[in-house]
Amino acid sequence: MNRMTLQEKIGQMVQIERTVASPQVMKNYFIGSVLSGGGSSPGVNASAQEWIKMVNQFQRDALSTRLGIPMIYGIDSVHGHSTVYNATIFPHNIGLGATRDPELVKRIGAATALEARATGIPYLFAPCVAVCRDPRWGRCYESYSEDPEVVSSMTEIVTGLQGDIPSTSPKGVPYVGGKTKVAACAKHYVGDGGTVNGINENNTILSRHGLLSIHMPGYSASIIKGVSTVMVSYSSWNGDKMHGNRDLITGFLKGTLRFRGFVITDWEGLDRMTSPRHANYSNSILRGINAGIDMIMVPMKYKEFIDDLNQLVTNHEIPMSRIDDAVRRVLRVKFTMGLFENPLADETLVNHLGSHEHRELAREAVRKSLVLLKNTNSMLPLPKKGSKILVAGAHADNLGYQCGGWTIQWQGQSGNNATVGMNTVDKQSSQVVYQENPDTKYLQSEGFSYAIVVVGELPYAETEGNNMNLTIPEPGPTMIKNVCRAVKCVVVVVSGRPVVIEPYLKWIDGLVAAWLPGTEGQGVADVLFGNYGFSGKLSRTWFRSVDQLPMNVGDEHYDPLFPFGFGLTTEPTDDSN
Ligand code: BGC
Ligand code: BGC
Repeated sequence: MNRMTLQEKIGQMVQIERTVASPQVMKNYFIGSVLSGGGSSPGVNASAQEWIKMVNQFQRDALSTRLGIPMIYGIDSVHGHSTVYNATIFPHNIGLGATRDPELVKRIGAATALEARATGIPYLFAPCVAVCRDPRWGRCYESYSEDPEVVSSMTEIVTGLQGDIPSTSPKGVPYVGGKTKVAACAKHYVGDGGTVNGINENNTILSRHGLLSIHMPGYSASIIKGVSTVMVSYSSWNGDKMHGNRDLITGFLKGTLRFRGFVITDWEGLDRMTSPRHANYSNSILRGINAGIDMIMVPMKYKEFIDDLNQLVTNHEIPMSRIDDAVRRVLRVKFTMGLFENPLADETLVNHLGSHEHRELAREAVRKSLVLLKNTNSMLPLPKKGSKILVAGAHADNLGYQCGGWTIQWQGQSGNNATVGMNTVDKQSSQVVYQENPDTKYLQSEGFSYAIVVVGELPYAETEGNNMNLTIPEPGPTMIKNVCRAVKCVVVVVSGRPVVIEPYLKWIDGLVAAWLPGTEGQGVADVLFGNYGFSGKLSRTWFRSVDQLPMNVGDEHYDPLFPFGFGLTTEPTDDSN
């Protein structure tokens, strides 16, 4: 660090988006980090080799600077390496929470790390350790649970992503176990899931005790496991923007919890400290960096950021000691993870992307994430033979819907072509008929033994997912009504959170919450047809009506449709039935 100029130090604090990065920019500004924003890829259906080519080029530019400090490339692999074509897409966190299986989640972390490394990427903006306290929040599915204990247990994913921290490692020091592991990021610090009415990026009104006991445990647990970075939340706590909260970033995170990795802003996090955005940018930079933020996800207007920060340091408004702390932390993570020794991609890893082994793991996760909510007359598991089965609903044949947001595109998408995988109810026998939206006449004439109706939410991410009514979009409800009144039926709900279901419950014989299962939806059929039993438990309270919200386990007035922890079980059946 003694050899670094102020320009070089500032460069280490800057993260820019790949679309504004170029050889000149990397070199002239000594850029320390590049990211892919949501859905930002080097091309449609880009291969692992194309990703590697892009990342390696940015790296060579960084290495060609005076000190040759490698840049670190980051991406949102929040349910597998989910921006990349042909990657294995795992269930979103809400489903993983329902497995109550930290060891499984650790294996998912290890698989995700390998798939990221297969594309030359060593840094992931995951895990999200948000404790979603209101399902109206557009990011509810990114949260493992409303219960801080379940969220903390799931931070086992950090050891999968980064490797097992040695027992001799001092508390708070980041750890990454080499070339097949990645640097992780616990986000969004802190209280992101506690905002008023679940409004994204809004205000969390809570006592200090409430904040520490509900929203902090996921960070303590991640830090003990050696998490390398922490991302700050857009949200406010009792009216103060987290991006300017020196007490919680420098005082609590770096002080009390002894976190020694780096703290990163969210995307345009400093711009969003003011309303309107970017209104007093230089002041926001001042507040954010003096609060203790080390790396800034600028990510587009890097020139303005660099000029402003330079001025603030030259004017002594930001002390050099603060800059040095930031740079020391960024370099510590880069050294720890072996980026100086191995800055370029290891091309021997490319075949891990979407490997058979990883897809089997995802299918196991899907099976374990399913929560059986109703099972009249033990309708489930379904018989495999001798029946004529109707499968209905757009969600039964749409990988995009089954994957949800943060899949290939930031907001996710519709259809079967953008990812590679298996739908929820692929043919189990020749007696399966698929009709997206069957009419009444058809239902009555065909003599079905039973129907499987797959309905749910359409993909969304972040603020676009805020939803104050939480109803299943049409034709879902109408189809439940029409099909389930005509034929014995199982309803499979594909959604990022509990949705309004009570009005239809009387018609439904079997009800399954499948969350957002990802590309290996066959895991749903595995359990419906009894190859495996149901074992998942609700990681969230299932409300009766939205006017009850927020309502969480432990609340004084707790009158859910299905309580936190609920989940019926079935035994696997043998193949002869
Ligand atoms: C980016 C995302 C980012 C979002 C923030 C999008 O344009 O692609 O990565 O999370 O903006 O609003
Ligand atoms: C999201 C983060 C994400 C970042 C980069 C932001 O909009 O809040 O979770 O890591 O974009 O894509």
